[in-house]
Amino acid sequence: MSPLIEIHSASKPLLLVENVSVRRNRSNVLSDVNLKVFPGEFVGIVGPNGGGKSTLIQAILGILKCQSGQILLASNRPMSKAVYGKVAWVSQAAANLPQNVRLTVRELVGLGTMNNKNWFLPSFASSEIERAIELVGLTHLAHRDVNQLSGGERQRAVIARALASQAELLLLDEPLVGMDRASRSSLLKLLDSFCHEQDKTIIMISHDTAAMLQTAHRIVYLEEKIWFDGPPGNFPNLEELAVMRGIEEVHGACEQCDDDVLPPTEVE
Ligand SMILES: Nc1ncnc2c1ncn2[C@@H]1O[C@H](COP(=O)(O)OP(=O)(O)OP(=O)(O)O)[C@@H](O)[C@H]1O
Ligand SMILES: [Mg+2]
Repeated sequence: MSPLIEIHSASKPLLLVENVSVRRNRSNVLSDVNLKVFPGEFVGIVGPNGGGKSTLIQAILGILKCQSGQILLASNRPMSKAVYGKVAWVSQAAANLPQNVRLTVRELVGLGTMNNKNWFLPSFASSEIERAIELVGLTHLAHRDVNQLSGGERQRAVIARALASQAELLLLDEPLVGMDRASRSSLLKLLDSFCHEQDKTIIMISHDTAAMLQTAHRIVYLEEKIWFDGPPGNFPNLEELAVMRGIEEVHGACEQCDDDVLPPTEVE
């Protein structure tokens, strides 16, 4: 057993997903999913549209009930009192803020710090707000209306809101959508630093497999079941993934087919 695996098995998982199945619209969206995430890990979840990635996040949050199996967050059930404030979720649509709401970056981030103890004293959490805004590099835009930000800046603002909440586990559903390459890459570096320097644990869904392979510590390929879970260096190529999922080659190597192929027409 490698030293890393020994350390992992010795420490307690922050998230435990055990034999979880979830049905939606009378069909299985997740079947017998098992996943353990340890403190400080950055796990990237990839997979096709409709593969159940957002469903898994919603089950972890306790918004969706599992038909079977169990989910534990630091040994507690989702939505239990002990978990309150420990998990932050940035949903697929989080950055699409309503146009008619006038809110500065600072006010938006401040919403992340509100809880039942400081509801009437928003300034209570002032230092957390400033720090979260600084961490995502938006200090110079703190008083700007969120509707006057670029897509990437808005995405950073909603991530700052999650950070200000002091949650240990960040669940990010497609936070890179609508961001240009430079913003994507700086956001990914920032998220990686949260794991290393702020002791955050991140589970991030993205369709940008290449970016995930470069940033995440661990990659999960989810399509109803988990077909791969391991270090980015071991991630299978497309052909291997197809074989794993039992998809047969459509354009198989076939001598007769080769004979049928017409020679390319010459273009003058
Ligand atoms: N609110 C809903 N009610 C019923 N079925 C739903 C609902 N949301 C999603 N589904 C179904 O559950 C399945 C998994 O959807 P899910 O949103 O988890 O996929 P996903 O992997 O996040 O896809 P994407 O990459 O497109 O975001 C799909 O077949 C989808 O149609
Ligand atoms: Mg989704």
